[in-house]
Amino acid sequence: MSQISVISGITSDEIAKKIAKKIKANLVKSEIRTFPDGESKITLIGKIAKKRSIVIQSIFPPVDTNLVQILSLITKAKENSSKVDVVVPYMGYARQDREFLPGEIVTMKVLAKLFKGAGASKITVVDIHSLIGLKYFSNKTQNVSAIPDLVKYFKKLRLKNPLIISPDQGGKQRAKEFAKEFNSDYIALEKARDRKTGKVKIKTTNLSEVENRDLILVDDMISTGGSLIKATQFLKKQKCKRIYVACTHALLINDAEKKIKKAGVTSIISTNTIPGKTSKVDISNTIAKAIM
Ligand code: R5P
Repeated sequence: MSQISVISGITSDEIAKKIAKKIKANLVKSEIRTFPDGESKITLIGKIAKKRSIVIQSIFPPVDTNLVQILSLITKAKENSSKVDVVVPYMGYARQDREFLPGEIVTMKVLAKLFKGAGASKITVVDIHSLIGLKYFSNKTQNVSAIPDLVKYFKKLRLKNPLIISPDQGGKQRAKEFAKEFNSDYIALEKARDRKTGKVKIKTTNLSEVENRDLILVDDMISTGGSLIKATQFLKKQKCKRIYVACTHALLINDAEKKIKKAGVTSIISTNTIPGKTSKVDISNTIAKAIM
């Protein structure tokens, strides 16, 4: 048996299987039974290595259920392995990293305590919403970038004089990194979000440089699609050509995909941190390299 086990949570079973193969670890799978009251009963299938375990589980909806599951996996891993590393390809709650309005709880602080308490050593995430979320962890942390993998995909498309766009100033660095790797230029729009209703609006006015060009809107995540829809509607009015979306985590809540396409997006490309119809870019190789 290998000295390393990859313990796969059900939200990341495909990615975990690939990582286990790449790093030659033995794969321990989770079997879940959901009780009538909603509780998860988790059974691990396979033997956990004594030396090191790597728990892999994204925290997408149902977020709290998947959070309790990853904490349970870490706890069980720690009972058997001396070192438990954790990979959270999509870190739920990452946007709750600051007290935006008085009285708001910074849930990332809570997660940091829970991961530590369960027995996690190092925590690896992919394109976390902001690095601020990681500063609450007393564990070692690392943020892995999916941008090189996304760029590889986009290099195969024949785009017309492409320009990289961030839908907001918060994503400017991400757009810059994408543009550098893609060998093009970039701009960032001005977006404002109402902190009470969550509604967004684009504050940027005229943008002549997008005219007659193909655009790639780059974002860390899509939830309701609100940010991308507003950005797309604005960019279409500026007479651009096609609009593509490159994002790491596509939650695509309810009919977000349909609404984004209706607004004028040609195609949405995401990674498999959240498996789904748009997750055409595999990030397992990049994660495997980062954790070894
Ligand atoms: C915001 O700053 C993020 O980077 C995303 O743009 C945002 O969270 C996506 O959420 P939604 O799809 O609901 O607009």
